[in-house]
Amino acid sequence: MRSSELHAQARRVAGIGLAALAATVLAAAPAAAQSTAGNRTGQAVATAVCAACHGEDGNSAVPMFPKIAGLQESYLVKQLRDFKSGRRKSDVMAPVVADLKPEDMQPLAAYYSHLSLKPEVPGERRTTDLGKLIYFDGNEETGVPACVGCHQPAGAGHLLYPRIGGQHAVYVKQQLKNFASGERTNDANRFMRVVAQRMSDEEMDAVAAYLAGLGR
Ligand code: HEC
Ligand code: HEC
Repeated sequence: MRSSELHAQARRVAGIGLAALAATVLAAAPAAAQSTAGNRTGQAVATAVCAACHGEDGNSAVPMFPKIAGLQESYLVKQLRDFKSGRRKSDVMAPVVADLKPEDMQPLAAYYSHLSLKPEVPGERRTTDLGKLIYFDGNEETGVPACVGCHQPAGAGHLLYPRIGGQHAVYVKQQLKNFASGERTNDANRFMRVVAQRMSDEEMDAVAAYLAGLGR
């Protein structure tokens, strides 16, 4: 390729980059302006009520308390409503949502969804290798589906499929056990109950260890 052609190509690539960037900025601008008041409410309630357990930035220090930073807004709203209606049971979250105004749920969810979830240092190698296998391939013999199909690469999630990459291993294992035992039943279409019921304890531990370091 001659030098002038190379530059023309580079300009075309740069042009595409700028156009895409402009589209993103334009798409984000009105939403940002609208949600300023909501952000203030979300942040105020988060600091006063939620930070004690979920951490100042939504990355809780205690492994039994989930990190809620960076989870999808729609998923967060759904969980808060499910705790309130009793569809999802938790002795800890029940009194919290009992005191929460329904109109504060959306701003809280918007606030946390814009924070970054911070993954842990990846765990022990042999466990995480099995975890990676489960995450990407599932277990054909026992019918465990690959997690990646719903939870996306890097466990980033999408809409009502939650981000699980970087989550505390202890929390993930507990939720898988809760789905398997039927303690947690707020999953639409029984997706997660079916998945978890087919998993061995070893597979749960391995995928939880793998997920904790995912997204770094
Ligand atoms: C006293 C500690 C505590 C406080 C305060 C608290 N939480 Fe929680 N939260 C928990 C625990 C523990 C769980 C896990 C419940 C379970 O076992 O299913 C949880 C779960 C959640 C979940 C589900 C996360 C997921 O990944 O599915 C959301 C969302 C949530 N809390 C939001 C909030 C918000 C918003 C506030 C403030 C209004 C708040 N929490 C206050 C302890 C707390
Ligand atoms: C068919 C789609 C699907 C597949 C496959 C799937 N999940 Fe899920 N998962 C979901 C949905 C939907 C939810 C949210 C349920 C709800 O609304 O509370 C969820 C929730 C979860 C949660 C709870 C997250 C939280 O923050 O509380 C964990 C942990 C989880 N999945 C792990 C896994 C693992 C590990 C695998 C692979 C072995 C897997 N999932 C495969 C759809 C799926």
